[in-house]
Parts: sequence; C-alpha cells; structure tokens
Amino acid sequence: MCGIVGYVGFQECPLILLDALKRLEYRGYDSAGIAVVHDKKILFHRAVGKLINLEHHLLKHPLKGTIGIGHTRWATHGKPSELNAHPHVVDDIAVVHNGIIENYVALKQEIQQKGIVFSSQTDTEVIAHLIALFIKEGNRFEDAVRKAISRLKGSFALGIICAQQPHKLIAVRKESPLIIGIGDGEYFIASDAPALLPYTKRVYFMNDGEMAILSPDGMELVDFKGNILPFKTTEIPWTPLLAEKAGYKHFMQKEIFEQPRVITDTFRGRFDPETGEINFEEFDLGQIGDLKKIWIVACGTSYHAGLVGKYMLERLCRLPVEVDLGSEFRYRKPIIDRDMLLILISQSGETADTLAAMREGQKKGVKTLGICNVLGSTLARECDFVIYTHAGPEIGVASTKAFTTQLTVLYLLSLYFAAWLQRLSSSEVKQYLYDLMELSSKIEAALSAAEEIEALAPKYAKFKDFLYLGRGLYYPIALEGALKLKEISYIHAEAYAAGEMKHGPIALIDENMPVVVLAPKGDTYEKIRSNMEEVLSRQGKVIAVTEPDCREIAEKAEDVIKVPEIANPFLKTILYTIPLQLLAYYMAVFKGTDVDQPRNLAKSVTVE
Ligand code: G6P
Repeated sequence: MCGIVGYVGFQECPLILLDALKRLEYRGYDSAGIAVVHDKKILFHRAVGKLINLEHHLLKHPLKGTIGIGHTRWATHGKPSELNAHPHVVDDIAVVHNGIIENYVALKQEIQQKGIVFSSQTDTEVIAHLIALFIKEGNRFEDAVRKAISRLKGSFALGIICAQQPHKLIAVRKESPLIIGIGDGEYFIASDAPALLPYTKRVYFMNDGEMAILSPDGMELVDFKGNILPFKTTEIPWTPLLAEKAGYKHFMQKEIFEQPRVITDTFRGRFDPETGEINFEEFDLGQIGDLKKIWIVACGTSYHAGLVGKYMLERLCRLPVEVDLGSEFRYRKPIIDRDMLLILISQSGETADTLAAMREGQKKGVKTLGICNVLGSTLARECDFVIYTHAGPEIGVASTKAFTTQLTVLYLLSLYFAAWLQRLSSSEVKQYLYDLMELSSKIEAALSAAEEIEALAPKYAKFKDFLYLGRGLYYPIALEGALKLKEISYIHAEAYAAGEMKHGPIALIDENMPVVVLAPKGDTYEKIRSNMEEVLSRQGKVIAVTEPDCREIAEKAEDVIKVPEIANPFLKTILYTIPLQLLAYYMAVFKGTDVDQPRNLAKSVTVE
C-alpha cells in the first residue's frame, strides 16, 4: 500500500529510483513521483496513473541528481491526481510517505492559521509543512524532522530530502515497513526488499521508532529523541532474477507455475522421512507450553489458508481452532486465554489488520506464531515465533504461490502438533510426510491442464456472475477460487459451502450463472454430486473440477477440469487450487485486464 524509495550516493539516481519503484509498483499504482536535489534545489516530477506515465515524463524532461526519493501511490486521502501524488514539496523539503497521519486535520488547521496554503488533499502534506516550519525556526534538518514527527499520530514510513543538505537522506519508520540497502558509498531505502535486489543484498530492517540519517559517508541510526542506536545488517537470500518475469507474460503466471518448486523449498529440510521427525528451525514446542486451543488470524487469501488450516489442525490434532479476519478480531474483544496459540498468517508480514491482531494477542499475554513469506517483515520480527514459507518474492497482486506454501506449512505444523500431542502414531506421521513428497509432481500434472483451461476462457468470460461450491476442506478452496476471479477478471463471484446452497444462492441459478463445482473423491463426493444435480436441474452451467475417474460428474457437467488423483485429502486441497488459479488467470487475460496490478487493489494493505 504505497511504495517508497530513496537513494543517496555517487550515481545519477533518477533512473535507479524509477527502476526501484517499478519493483514496488504492486504496492500501489494510481500515481507516482520522483524528487531529487540538484544545485541546491528540489526538482521533481509527478504523474497520474501507472509508472509508465512518470517514465515518459522523465524521458522528456530528465532530472539530474545523486540524491532523491520516489513514491508509487495507493490513494487513501485525496483522489489520484498530480497534486495529490508524492513527493510533497514545501520550500526546500520533499517528502514521500507510506501510512496514514491520523491527526492531519488538526495539524492542517494549525498550519493554515499561520496563513499557509495547502496544495493537496493528502495527509502527507502536513509533514512537509511541519519540517519546513521547523527549519525556518533555525533547526538543523534532522532536528526539524524529529520535531515534526513528534507531532504526528498514525503510521508512517518516510523518505525526506532537503535542498540545503544535498548529501543527506533521512528515513523514518513508525508502523509502516522500511528497509535500508547498504552499498559501497551509497545507501538506498525501500518499502520492500525486491526494490533493492539489483543494487545490494545487504540491508537493515528498520524498527518502529527509528530514524536513519544516510549520506555517502555513512549511516547514523537514532531514536525519535535523537539517541544513537546500534544496528546489525542482514543479507537477503533472494536473487534479482527471482523478482523478474523470466519469460512469462505476467508475474502471476510465473508464480502459478513456480508452485511445484516453492512448495518443495517450503518443506525441504523440515522433516526426516525415515524417522518422521519434523523440525522447524525457527521454534520448538517446548517454548509454546500447554496448548489447548489455536486461533488463526489473517486477511484476504491468507485468511482462506487459515480456514483450510482449521480443518487440518482440528482433524489431525483434535484441537479446537478458531479462524478470524484481522479486521474483525481486534474489535470483537475476543476471549483470549493464555494457553492458546495465536497464529498469524501473512504473505507480506505487513498487513495492518493482521499486525493489530498480533499486538492485541501479545497484550493479553498469548504466544504468537507468524507464518510469513517476507524475511525481516514486521510480523516475522514481532511474533514470538515465525515459520517462513519459502515462496520467494510474490509480485502479482493476486496471491497464488504464497497461498499454497502457507497450506504446506499448515500441513506440516498440524503433523508436528499431532505427533507432539500423540494424536497420530509415528507411522501415520511418516505416511503423511511421504504423501508430501509426491505433491510437487502432482502439481506439475495439475499445471499441465493449463491449455484446456485457457480454452474455456472465451466461453465463460462473458458471464457477469459465478458461483463456486465446495464442501469441507474444499469450501475455503472455493472461496479462494472466487476471490481470484473477482480480483483479476472483475467478474462477480461468490463461494458457498455446497450444503448451504439450498438456503439462498439456489434462487440465483439459471443459464446465466456458471457454477464451479469442486468434486473431489472422498467423504463428501456423493453429497457434492447431488448439489451438482440441483444446479443442473435449474439450467445452471457446471464447470466441474474433479478427478479422472469420476465419470458420473464428467458426463453431466458442461465442462470438466481434471485434477490428478492423490489420496491425502489435505494435500488434495492444494491440487484443487491450481485449476482455479489458472481459470481466473486465463479469464482475466482473455478479458484484457491488468492481471498483475488489478484496479483498486494493492499487494500489501498497510492501512486499516
Ligand atoms: C491484499 C492482497 C491479497 C492478500 C491480502 C493479505 O488484499 O491483495 O493478495 O491476500 O492483502 O495479505 P498478506 O500479505 O497479509 O497475506
């Protein structure tokens, strides 16, 4: 949700900033801008729409400078427009901001009373005015920044430059992510690691309440009172290539096809198939204590992973599990007991509502476990324990490989707890682990249906509404399939637990309502078959997702997508996810929507 970047060093930086912004564009893409210091003046360009517009502008009117900041926006306050785009420039100061200033109305009125006129409708502009005012009062640049941020309430990651200090870039973090990239005589700042990968892998993940003063001569880290702080750098294990499209048309397509590999990366090294021992290097059970209940909290696709996790944990461990949306959990005043474990699932580790739930739990003294993809993210750092999904950078806004690697972790975690609680024998655990080892080849086989699924797109892309039906473990998979379709093809899609269809959605079914029926072999096969009959007898068009020998389903459905057979019902959820991702993807491609950057969405929602 908004991406910010910055550079100070010896190289001409406008194109570096632009390139870094391109890697952050998934965080917001309604307008963008860049500011540099040149000849003790702030020079800047801003443009509405995607970064390409800013790029065209920069090519026509190049900027020069070895220090600068940049921003790609997802509007919160003020519609997307050039005036509302960042950087916000006031006198000698330019600011880029990710977050929300909650008290900006009061601050704005206070500043306006001094006769100052605002040029945008954003909350961010108050920051630039405050710093400029403190500089006018004779404060040094860094002191003016500290005084200004002491007036702010809310969340902010900031990049700030000053025309009179052409070698000083200031970075500030409170509740919104910010990373410092450390080069040789040069420093970078960015909201997220992929922006830095081509330039440096040595980084410092800023903590809340820190301010960094960066110049080609070095970096000074202080708290908001100005006390000097020590800092330790980290190497990011990702390579720049991982954040490229590698010949695919879209990041989403690449990420769908990467799933066999990243799922293996996620479970590799975490168990010994001979002994059935599972090991999470990041934490051990002794630290969790008495475990009576699990609560899973997440948002979006990660929430759907949590719903599948509930089925897995309850069935394998016989532990009660609740699942909540981040935005609901904290305001519901949940009843939290100390002997429960709070699991937070987040690809980015920066989703504001998920982080708020984590903090709420920690306030109540409960242990927190994060399942997260991004190294050094807030969730990863602030949870008591973290398990990483090794999905690599996920750039497509619609989440795919993060979801299936989250399911992989939840599966392993369920086995881990089940063994510990003695709900499964060691031979049962071993069998479940063997099943996991054949998963990647099954996913390859599921992916081989891509062309057939692509061929369905012209037939179905014209419909306005879709219904997805699933039962048990496959209900959350239906939810996820419907979410994918909505997100990238803008077709309205709703998912229902198939048994609930009779309580409402059946009224909607006619020849204009394609229904995607998830019909896995297993406990509920006959039930879902009856649900399919109910749809067919009301002229609904059924796209059945099922296994090769399920002839009764195949003969009746309008179209059939076949998923390779696997006996393990938990892992089968992952296989059933693949065709739904592909269906949404090809429908969106056929409709010509912006697959990687769908309208109004952002990859990580860092505001409430
Ligand atoms: C946004 C993204 C979704 C994602 C959700 C939760 O809505 O567009 O793809 O599932 O945030 O993000 P997280 O990083 O917490 O998993």
